[in-house]
Amino acid sequence: MAFETQMLSSNDESIELAAKLIQQGEVVAMPTETVYGLAANAFDEHAVAKIFRAKERPADNPLIVHISELTQMTDVASQIPTLALSCAKAFWPGPLTMVLPKTPRIPSITSGGLETVGIRMPSHPTARALIDAAEVPLAAPSANLSGSPSPTCAEHVLKDMNGRIPLILDGGVSDAGVESTVICFEPEAIKILRPGAITAQMLASVTPDVRIDKGVLHAVDNSQVVASPGMKYKHYSPKANVIIVDGSPEQFKDYVLSSGTPGTLCLIFGDEGMDNTEMPCIDLGLSSEEQAHNLFDALREADERGAKTVYARCPKLDGVGLAVYNRLIRAAAFEVVKL
Ligand code: TXA
Ligand code: MG
Repeated sequence: MAFETQMLSSNDESIELAAKLIQQGEVVAMPTETVYGLAANAFDEHAVAKIFRAKERPADNPLIVHISELTQMTDVASQIPTLALSCAKAFWPGPLTMVLPKTPRIPSITSGGLETVGIRMPSHPTARALIDAAEVPLAAPSANLSGSPSPTCAEHVLKDMNGRIPLILDGGVSDAGVESTVICFEPEAIKILRPGAITAQMLASVTPDVRIDKGVLHAVDNSQVVASPGMKYKHYSPKANVIIVDGSPEQFKDYVLSSGTPGTLCLIFGDEGMDNTEMPCIDLGLSSEEQAHNLFDALREADERGAKTVYARCPKLDGVGLAVYNRLIRAAAFEVVKL
């Protein structure tokens, strides 16, 4: 192993140590309000290369650059449309990433070879303090191995990154539980490339014209040029085979009880009568917000419990539910049983 990975609870001292490591060109895992990130100096191509290596991430999948002050935006983005400023005012700090043309200071490796860059100002106090202390914007993808569920606590990061990075800052369980909403701009319109906790309805307060990229709901062909390269990769997948089941709670129950074999586990939303059965279940909660908060932990737990098949109830598609569906449909490799 290249590193003895240290996990330290987040405080002034550990943040100072993390900032030093970043200034020396290393990669550090940090908590954010969405999921944990693997952070390095966004301007340093050698440091960013270490992120790609640690995650085993494909080189054409761009990273998000994290800032802590609005003044840093011009170091990263070369053009900032009025709509982007309105979004920054309305939703930053918070779980919103804006794709804008990049400055030459952002090396091509950070932007996955694109001329644009994703920028976000996180609200988690540790992430903000680390950006301030490192004195550079931080490139940070989710801190999971490429393809596996994003980490929502420091233990998840340790599982994937042990021996690959020197330090994990433990800042508790991530609040949102799904990654930031990624948007780009069209004249007078916002397009959602990846749904998250900032919903289409919320973005509509900035402009009435909010569009949803077709890659959000549908599979994208690997040979296609896609608006958000991350969407073409197999994602969020536990070892178990995940299948979404679209039907009423009663239909869901009948279906899984008749199709389930040993090694089947169900992801349910609130009590749906499943607790009267022998079927192993993980309850993600009734609201879309709870489901988002619990989803990735549940996918990891399914693996830990040795599940072979996971039947997941189909989430609602509105509000934060769209983010839950977008992650779950990728975990399920687009396999949906309609009842
Ligand atoms: O909440 C989050 O966004 C977390 C935390 C750590 O901040 N980060 C995260 O990063 O989810 P990552 O690398 O796992 O996902 C970044 C997504 C990918 O789907 C990528 O394709 C898209 O953002 N993206 C980044 N830069 C882009 C660009 N220039 N154009 C289009 N899509 C971009
Ligand atoms: Mg990711």
